[in-house]
Amino acid sequence: MTRTVYVNGAFVPENEAKVSIFDRGFLFADGVYEVTSVLDGKLIDFDGHAKRLERSLSELDMPQPMPTDELLSVHRELLARNDLSEGMIYLQVTRGSDGDRDFVFPDPDTTKPSVVLFTQAKPIAQSAAAETGIRVISIEDIRWGRRDIKTVQLLYPSMGKMLAKKAGADDAWMIEDGFVTEGTSNNAYIVKDGKIITRHLGNEILHGITRAAVLRFAREAQMTVEERSFSLDEAMNADEAFITSASTFVMPVVEIDGRTVGNGAPGPVAKRLREIYLEESRNSAI
Ligand code: PDD
Repeated sequence: MTRTVYVNGAFVPENEAKVSIFDRGFLFADGVYEVTSVLDGKLIDFDGHAKRLERSLSELDMPQPMPTDELLSVHRELLARNDLSEGMIYLQVTRGSDGDRDFVFPDPDTTKPSVVLFTQAKPIAQSAAAETGIRVISIEDIRWGRRDIKTVQLLYPSMGKMLAKKAGADDAWMIEDGFVTEGTSNNAYIVKDGKIITRHLGNEILHGITRAAVLRFAREAQMTVEERSFSLDEAMNADEAFITSASTFVMPVVEIDGRTVGNGAPGPVAKRLREIYLEESRNSAI
């Protein structure tokens, strides 16, 4: 199926979409992105993603390409044109192209950002992996120091996924000074004695939109949440582990570096949080 994608103001067939070879996203990874999940043809947590986009852009001195209500219209139009009921919308904003390669940022008055959006159809609510749980390996976190900005510099996370694949696992958790930062494209959690433990916010991790929602739902359900660093050793001895992201929601982790977590099956806390997240997200989708 040929998708209809959005590029700089136009909806076009995917094979006709064009971006300059001088685009700074292509040359310098000078761009940011968002992935918003879609259930029943509706957007999950659009406001959260729009706010984080605004923050990522402002941290990099990039202008907002369009007001939030316009961005919402583009998302909805794209859903409609592609008849997408479940999956994701990928959005990327780069600093654009000034027709050459220069490390210095171009003048924002004359060089406009590039904006690209496309849909990805994928079952997220009904997931075989959620029934069995996933296996992760640990790798050193050698990314840059501003992981709170959602930039398109994803080479290391991509290498991490390949290392996991080669090791017969599904994903990798990244470790800095002995502590887990996050997964290659998700936030990481453990459960011990009923407490949900996940790394505190800071520059070391992405401030996940799913994370914020899941922690809110957990607290509303009277579960105890501790936002602090946890070590790889602590994770291996946890009762449960899981990850969250817009593309996986709440996904149980049943093995870390070949060691079984808990009894090796998705735990009750992760299962419950997945159920609550799905229900609440469907109710508040727009
Ligand atoms: N990744 N941490 C990292 C490094 C991520 O790349 C992501 C999201 C998350 C979770 O954030 P959120 O809950 O807002 O999706 C945490 C997206 C899904 C991706 O790169 O495809």
